Parts: sequence; structure tokens; C-alpha cells
Amino acid sequence: MPVSADTPLTRAIPSSGERIPVIGMGTWRVFDVGHGETARAPLDECVAAFEALGGCVIDTSPMYGWAEEVTGEILTSLGLRDRMFVATKVWTQGRDRGIAQMRDSMRKLRVDRIDLMQVHNLVDTATHLDTLRRWKAEGLVRYIGVTHYSDRAHGDVARVLRQESLDFVQINYSVAERAAEQSILPLAAERGVAVIANRPLAAGAALGRLRQRPVPEWASELGCSTWSQLLLKFVVSHPAVTCAIPATGNPDHLRDNMLAAFAPMPDAAFRERIARAATGQ
Ligand SMILES: NC(=O)c1ccc[n+]([C@@H]2O[C@H](COP(=O)([O-])OP(=O)(O)OC[C@H]3O[C@@H](n4cnc5c(N)ncnc54)[C@H](OP(=O)(O)O)[C@@H]3O)[C@@H](O)[C@H]2O)c1
Repeated sequence: MPVSADTPLTRAIPSSGERIPVIGMGTWRVFDVGHGETARAPLDECVAAFEALGGCVIDTSPMYGWAEEVTGEILTSLGLRDRMFVATKVWTQGRDRGIAQMRDSMRKLRVDRIDLMQVHNLVDTATHLDTLRRWKAEGLVRYIGVTHYSDRAHGDVARVLRQESLDFVQINYSVAERAAEQSILPLAAERGVAVIANRPLAAGAALGRLRQRPVPEWASELGCSTWSQLLLKFVVSHPAVTCAIPATGNPDHLRDNMLAAFAPMPDAAFRERIARAATGQ
């Protein structure tokens, strides 16, 4: 698959001004593979291609089975540990259990410092944010945030965004799940909080249907040759979105997705065209 020689587009993290590429990498399910070499080989290739194409944000969680350990092993074996922006999460109740889990994540990821630590699905948010503010001051984490994956939690996520001082919010956003446009995205922009879009391909569901159809002719005007590129460009061209984290264990899909990080990006009218073409609405 041809790849532009240009570098991927980046966006600034509002709280620091540090820039990150608009396409990152998720690890849910696809990195939960244990030690088997056969299952690991395509993931090595995905991470190597991701880095070669300018990617750096990789998102995982202690909730994802083997994913943190596999991520740590791959980054170490490829010598990429210091070149990646590693995001993980805390997903348990209680201060001490939270601290133990986060230390375990650092061990599995083989890092002394986590770039972004997020409270996963708002589990015991106030307790963990209290710890994380301290950890940030001590340099154990660089950025802090919260995540959710479901429209029904947007009210609670919005409350946390208003009440707390966060660097990042991670939320579900795609052509198939646009509710974040109503509350989370404008609020994050107003509060100066970076947005990571999870489920940017609606967990693959949107693509399953679309793959049967050719991409519209006008896709070439956006430099897109596949539906996944169109769907990802829809997500990352929202002005409040900092990056999207599609997950794949398939190196061809990874290269396909990375092309969505390159110009040109759709304007508002083109974004609606993508959404209509993809959803038929
Ligand atoms: N609460 C939370 O914090 C939360 C919740 C959900 C997700 N997340 C994060 O967000 C990441 C992304 O969300 P997600 O994994 O649910 O869904 P997603 O990225 O929207 O979709 C992943 C699915 O799309 C397929 N896919 C990816 N690229 C493709 C391509 N180019 N062509 C065809 N199929 C493609 C993958 O299969 P193949 O492997 O076959 O490519 C996989 O089944 C997660 O991995 C996780 O890191 C966080």
C-alpha cells in the first residue's frame, strides 16, 4: 500500500502544547494474545509499521488481559519504549488497590513513567484522580485523564470534565456513535482537555457492512482509498479531537489506518458527506 512520504498530521495537547499524531493505536482484544509466537508476530509487525509511519500513541489497560504485558514486550524488543507515548488505565476500586494496579502496569509495560494514566470507565474516579495528581507532581505520570466507551455515561463524564482538572478525556466517537458531538467534544474544547476517540471504527461493526461496497468516487479528493480511512478522517477532523486509536492486529489494516493521518482532511461539509455515505442517513 503506498504511503505518503510526508509526516502524519499532529494536534497539540492543550495543557502542554506537546503535539501527538492524530492516529494512535488501541490494544483491546487484539493484543490479548499471551506469549505464543504465532499470535505475536503480526503484532510486532503492526507496532513496527506504526512507528515507521510516524505513530506514537498506544493505548492499553489492565482490563485487556495480556495487552499491557504484550505491549511492554514488543516495545522493548523493538527498541521503541522511549519513542512511544504510552497510555494505560486504572480499573479497580480503592486507593491502595489503584496504586498496586498502576505499579503493576508500569512493570508490565516496562516503563518508569506512564505518559498518560486514565481512570477506566470512571471506576472510583475521585480516589484515583487524587492519587494521580500526586503522581503527576512526582513525575510518575505525565498526563492524567478519564475514559468511557458508552453514550449513556456521557452525562457522568461531562460532570467530571467540569469538576476536575484533566489533561485528557477518552470517549467513544465515530460515524456510528456521534453523541459526543453534543456534550463531551464542545466541553473538552472549552475546558482545554485533549480528546482521544475510542471505538473510531465502531469496534469494526461499521466496516463489516461497508466493505461490501466500493468507496464513493469523491473519496479520492480526500486522499482516501478505503472506508476505514474515510471513517478515521471523519473522527480526527473534528476540531475538538486530538487523536483516534483504532485497534488492529492486522499489519495491512494498520498501514491502511495510518494513511488517515495524512492530509487532506475533510471540512465540515465533507465530514457530513462521509457520515451520510457510511450510515445511509
Ligand atoms: N472504556 C475505554 O477506555 C475503552 C473502550 C473501548 C475502546 N477503548 C480503546 O479504544 C481502542 C479502539 O476501540 P475498539 O478496539 O473497541 O474498536 P475500533 O478500533 O473501532 O475497531 C477495532 C476493530 O476494527 C477492525 N479494524 C481495524 N482497522 C481495520 C481496517 N483498516 N480494515 C478492516 N477492519 C479493521 C479490527 O479488526 P482487525 O484486527 O481484523 O483489523 C477490530 O476488530 C481499543 O482497542 C482500546 O484501546 C477504550
